[in-house]
Amino acid sequence: MAYTVHKLTDYSAAALERASDELTSALERETNAVTDESGLKQFRDRWMARKNGVLTQINDLWLKAAPKDARPAVGQKANWLKKHVEGMVEVAKNRLALQRAPLHEYGGFIDLDLRVDRVDISLPGMHRPIGAEHPVIKTTNEMVRVFQKLGYSVADGPVVETDYYNFEALNFPPNHPARDTQDTLFIAGQQSKTQRERLLLRTHTSPVQIRTMEKMRPPIRIVIPGTVHRNDPPDASHTPMFHQIEGLAVDTNITFGDLKGTLDHAMKEFFGSSVKTSFRPSFFPFTEPSAEMYVSCFICGGSGRRGADPCRPCKQTGWIEILGCGMVDPNVFEFVKDNGYDPKKVSGFAFGMGADRIALLKYGVDDIQLFFQGDVRFLEQWA
Ligand code: DAH
Repeated sequence: MAYTVHKLTDYSAAALERASDELTSALERETNAVTDESGLKQFRDRWMARKNGVLTQINDLWLKAAPKDARPAVGQKANWLKKHVEGMVEVAKNRLALQRAPLHEYGGFIDLDLRVDRVDISLPGMHRPIGAEHPVIKTTNEMVRVFQKLGYSVADGPVVETDYYNFEALNFPPNHPARDTQDTLFIAGQQSKTQRERLLLRTHTSPVQIRTMEKMRPPIRIVIPGTVHRNDPPDASHTPMFHQIEGLAVDTNITFGDLKGTLDHAMKEFFGSSVKTSFRPSFFPFTEPSAEMYVSCFICGGSGRRGADPCRPCKQTGWIEILGCGMVDPNVFEFVKDNGYDPKKVSGFAFGMGADRIALLKYGVDDIQLFFQGDVRFLEQWA
């Protein structure tokens, strides 16, 4: 049925929108139906003729009949529709012209619709701001670079991991209480699998130690940047998804002295040559002995004070905890023994740090949530 303009009984925005939609879909159908000159003339008259064209009817039946308070909105709509109708008549006209023109005039390969909607190449270009590295990725890349300069290569592994790689092969036996230190997000519906095959979101980047040792024989030196997940409620210093940078060096005769020397050098390279490091005993199932490494506070210089004020980042202690580390536990090597990692012949050290935490400290950001809300006003500060 051909479209006719009805009187408006309801002048609400929604009703106006409906009436306008009805009109524009009829307009589009009729534009597409124009195939020759006489069709074009009929089409133009039907929509644009002063006497009784659709636009004139809109003026009479919608605008003039509108109650006073609805007039501005109806007027705006009527203006918009007028432009739209004129545009579509133009489209129909161009399309006919193109059908008559030999194709080679347009290069012969341009899509018909492209030829209709000609582009004004004199218009100014669209401004597309250049992106910036995310502060956490920037921090990660800088830290990785420090180790690359020492000859380390970069390794990675899956974020959805098996219980075996995330826990068992790292010397967290099934049901061992050490598993409780990492609030784990498990994938649902895995009951039919054996425990070691069950999937979870990796809670740390350490499983990539095992995966890499399965693939590469010693000696190895690798860093492993990546995302990890834990079932921690979000607050100013926790998010369920965060980033770690792991490291592993295995060779003959690697000692705790190598660990200390390597990490001390890396921290001086990353934070500046004046920082000191301190190693304090700790526990991780996959290292023995284990330690936490602190660096002297690079904000207050280790004094614990900033002028008259207490230094908050180091809680006035003058030291900031940066990472966990230790000598690879022989039990871990047992899982990859067949690939050349006989614990009687090789030794190694490992370390793991939180990239987000380091970025927070480095840039003086006080809420980790800001890193992941995607607010450009925050992120463009690194542009
Ligand atoms: N994976 C540990 C964690 O997420 C961090 C860590 C500690 C990694 C000691 C290591 C290490 O490689 O040796 O808490």
